[in-house]
Amino acid sequence: MHARAVTASAAALLGTAALLLPLSPARAAESSARPLVIAHRGASAYAPENTLAAVDKAAELGVDWVENDVQRTRDGELVVLHDDSLRRTTDVEEVFPGRAPWKVKDFTAAEIARLDAGSWFGSAYAGARVPTLEQFLHRVERHHQKLLLEIKNPQLYPGMERQILKVLGNEGWLDRPHVRNRLIVQSFSADSVRTVHDLRPAVRTGFLGTPPVSDLPAYADFTDQINPSHGSLSAGYVSAVHALKGAHGKPLEVCTWTVNDAAAARRVAGFGVDGIITDTPDVVRDAVRG
Ligand code: G3P
Ligand code: CA
Repeated sequence: MHARAVTASAAALLGTAALLLPLSPARAAESSARPLVIAHRGASAYAPENTLAAVDKAAELGVDWVENDVQRTRDGELVVLHDDSLRRTTDVEEVFPGRAPWKVKDFTAAEIARLDAGSWFGSAYAGARVPTLEQFLHRVERHHQKLLLEIKNPQLYPGMERQILKVLGNEGWLDRPHVRNRLIVQSFSADSVRTVHDLRPAVRTGFLGTPPVSDLPAYADFTDQINPSHGSLSAGYVSAVHALKGAHGKPLEVCTWTVNDAAAARRVAGFGVDGIITDTPDVVRDAVRG
């Protein structure tokens, strides 16, 4: 049999596992380099945020870590979208003109699946969809990437922490390799982060914000990262975070956001941050690896 036919047959037999090619040496080296470079909502400077195209773009740039935002539809499907309204990043106003203010929680998954989540960004992305969390996880897995999952607006979606963990478990994201190396769950809601920690203590978590230094020990009980906006950061704050041990007994880490230019990337790298969340992962990587 021709070699290509053999490969195709093997792929058919093995399913997606056969598509998981080994990492290139450059990608493997980047994988362990610090600070981590995390593509914010995917590589969202170059493709529409929180779409599969933005995940693909991050992979194309050789970026391991992808951040996203998870919310819930009216009929209980978890979807990946930043705003609590569909208005900014889809054509919902045209498709459903009478449904202002177009909140995610007021639309079914089937309705959201009809929306174009790419044209607002550029015609090249016309027809991109709002992914479900499952679809997003599949794409990240396919690229061997890692996920910084943000629980967005948990006050709007009671019980979403348990639901997210269920989906992660169903999709194979709560096995040892994933929880040790490939998954962090974060939120601006300390209650939500604590709930994730209590429900599934093995999962690493992050709190989005800049709590006073005196409050950090309380956060360290249930989280592994303190993730502040870069404007609120200083070397002293990073040191204060690092001085504590997080929920898994390792030094509490800092991943900062959203850093999109080389000078700011070098500044926060100089503070000793562990990760930089960015729309322009190529720019940040070039700045901090130099
Ligand atoms: O991951 C940090 C960052 O995503 C938090 O802000 O509003 O972009 O979700 P936001
Ligand atoms: Ca986010």
